[in-house]
Amino acid sequence: MLAKAFFVGFIALLAAVEFGQVTVRLPFPPGVEYDYMAEPPAEGLPLKWDKGFKVENDVLTKAKFVLADEIVGVETVAVAPDGKLGLVDRFGKIFIATPDGRGGYSIPKEPLAYSSPGRTLGVKFDADGDLYMANSPLGLLQLVAPGDAENQKLVLATGRISDESPLLPGYPVEFANALDIASDGTVYFSSSTDVLAYKTEDSSWDVLDSVFVTIAKGAPAGMLLAYHPSNGSTIALMDKLWFGNGVALSPAEDYVLVADSIQMRIHRYWLQGPKAGSSEVFMDNLPGPPDGISLAGDGVNFWVTIYSEPSALMSLTHIRLVRVLTAWAPRLMRLLGVQMPRRGVVLKVSPQGQVLQVLGDATGKVMYGVTSAVEADGKLFLGTIRRKGVPVLDLKAIQ
Ligand SMILES: *[C@@H]1O[C@H](CO)[C@@H](O)[C@H](O)[C@H]1NC(C)=O
Repeated sequence: MLAKAFFVGFIALLAAVEFGQVTVRLPFPPGVEYDYMAEPPAEGLPLKWDKGFKVENDVLTKAKFVLADEIVGVETVAVAPDGKLGLVDRFGKIFIATPDGRGGYSIPKEPLAYSSPGRTLGVKFDADGDLYMANSPLGLLQLVAPGDAENQKLVLATGRISDESPLLPGYPVEFANALDIASDGTVYFSSSTDVLAYKTEDSSWDVLDSVFVTIAKGAPAGMLLAYHPSNGSTIALMDKLWFGNGVALSPAEDYVLVADSIQMRIHRYWLQGPKAGSSEVFMDNLPGPPDGISLAGDGVNFWVTIYSEPSALMSLTHIRLVRVLTAWAPRLMRLLGVQMPRRGVVLKVSPQGQVLQVLGDATGKVMYGVTSAVEADGKLFLGTIRRKGVPVLDLKAIQ
């Protein structure tokens, strides 16, 4: 009798959660708590992706890891014209790595500076050799004159949208993720969500829970932004991305691509021409979450990395109870020692959004969780958020 009453009560509780009568306090992160889920769930759920996609080559297994004992969790590699690499690890240590002439790199023992607090993801050198860094929760950082003992300084370029922005004036930029820089110095960058990066047990910074809690909330807060260094103004170009990620300008700088990792699509925002100021879907139904986007060495096409293979549960994210579970998923997986399925995918994509080439590692033997791919000097420098070293793929070796 008691068991039956308990069972009925439990079902009633689940129903109350599902229909929004009971709000669910989402677990995350220390100091920041979300006790609501979008009501009704925002458009865009359940999540959709290309489930039939098969990886048919193992080209990515040819990647060689450099600096494997020296650095961990480099999300994006910045490559300077002289071949030096700008690297920020998961602890926020900023390094410049110098080619050693034998295909390897050397870095000093001590970092140049710390981008802490927070997780630095996208990085890129500007025309003056200063290193821009996208960080959560700080915003867009700049290491001026890196390595120049006299003049080096770390500055916050922007952490807030300017009051004159037509979209989201005054809004904080707390999850800068990826960036590209135009020839006039304008920095186009994404902000992923309002669920910030957080410090983990080993004092490094992580963002995985932010992705899952954002799905659970169902209230997209990602943006595409433009920062003008000449006058310091920060303008929001797009809002309501579920998880703004990779950013890449077209060769003519007439449009900028921005990934939405959760929606597994890429948008094109027009900067010039008849459609200037508007956006359209550039690629949809990708085989998983797009992460980094960059212009390929051919100066025409783009590299797009696909971070992972979504769990089947993501097809059920229109159900509130599944979203509650989603918020907890990374913690449950850590607790139970379960890992995400491993798969490495990098796509070469045409300016028309057609997939021209797939670089793969079907079972993630060598490469998985690829966060970015940056081409320089015939090599593809790959990013990963938790792994040691920097994987480098010699593109000539895979022809
Ligand atoms: C800042 O500079 C940009 C680019 O030149 C310009 O479009 C914008 O209007 C300027 N903003 C202000 C407040 O001057």
